[in-house]
Amino acid sequence: MNAALLDRLRTELDDRRATTGLRRDLVVSGAQGPTLGVDGERLVNLASNDYLGLAGDPEVLGTARRALRDMGLGVTAGRVLCGTRAIHGELEAAVAELVGAEDAVLHTSCFDANLGLFDALLGPQDVVLSDALNHASLIDGIRLARAGRRVFAHADLDELDRLLAEHAGARHRLIVTDGVFSMDGDLAALPRLCELAERHDAVLVVDDSHATGVLGATGAGTAEHFGLAGRVDVLTGTLGKALGAGSGGFVAGPRAVVETLRQRSRPYIFTNAMAPALAAAALAAIRIARERPELRERLTANADWLRGALRDLGYEVPPGEHPIIPVMLRGGTRAADVAAALRREGVLVFALSHPVVPAGEERIRVQVSASHTPGQLEQAAAAFGRARSVLVDS
Ligand SMILES: Cc1ncc(COP(=O)(O)O)c(C=O)c1O
Repeated sequence: MNAALLDRLRTELDDRRATTGLRRDLVVSGAQGPTLGVDGERLVNLASNDYLGLAGDPEVLGTARRALRDMGLGVTAGRVLCGTRAIHGELEAAVAELVGAEDAVLHTSCFDANLGLFDALLGPQDVVLSDALNHASLIDGIRLARAGRRVFAHADLDELDRLLAEHAGARHRLIVTDGVFSMDGDLAALPRLCELAERHDAVLVVDDSHATGVLGATGAGTAEHFGLAGRVDVLTGTLGKALGAGSGGFVAGPRAVVETLRQRSRPYIFTNAMAPALAAAALAAIRIARERPELRERLTANADWLRGALRDLGYEVPPGEHPIIPVMLRGGTRAADVAAALRREGVLVFALSHPVVPAGEERIRVQVSASHTPGQLEQAAAAFGRARSVLVDS
């Protein structure tokens, strides 16, 4: 191996170790659920995206087991060769129906769906207008496209309005936003985004990874939450969070968009198809998400309860309506110190600091699930109460 490259990498790693420290993956044992096994302990899990608690649902798991028995593990081929099974088409139809789109196409993750989307649809005559806090996969997907790109400050729709006017001569203008932003749990201002897209005759693309199954009366996502069903042009989302917690992603929208992606999305064409058992599990999860609105009601009640409890303890918790609850602990290592104290108390959360969030905006991100019991939430709140003792200025 080339010595210069290895030397450079070692130097960069040493710098990183000395400054931000190296990221180390936490090794979890056992199944995903409202508690997680870590280092021989059971921790209350406030750190994952299993919003509806379907990761441990017996029907979802039973369906996956039967599919595994009947169809085997993987397909060892892409969708465009011999990797397509009937279950992929059934799942695509179910996704389209859930989000109210004409059609949908699966990818092996939402990251892949977002990577393939813009390059497949756009050319140099087009321009993408992207919220500054969009997910990394949207940022990378937009970079891969040959279209122009402009980033507007997070949620600054006046700036977006100006950019749309500035690029009135483009062949197509695509507005791209997360439906729910994952660091703060704040929702995109969809009513105004729809109005701007329609007034400027632009295309609205929403990544609803944290909203599909979670928001709206039937779990259709952010648009349904705002009473705007049918007004988002193209929707991307994941099957790895609320919808069964397996893995997979999708793009849903008009048939011509979906068919173009089947022809041109490189991460659709040049990778193995989603494992059939994962597709079967997601199909079961979508059915449950639609048939059991009480899961969303419990999720909202759990999130509201914990949000209130954390505020009562004196933590800064911005207003919100999503089960992502940011607990602001600005400056220095306050967020990391509280996260470490919570871990000692048997509660798993992660502290977010620069560069994931801007310096001075450090926080702990709490994520609630419908599967958390009142006892687990009370345990978490009590631990947050005791963890305040590590904050020297509180
Ligand atoms: C907004 C958003 N988009 C896309 C993704 C990627 O989803 P997947 O895990 O299916 O690749 C995530 C997951 O972190 C996300 O939060």
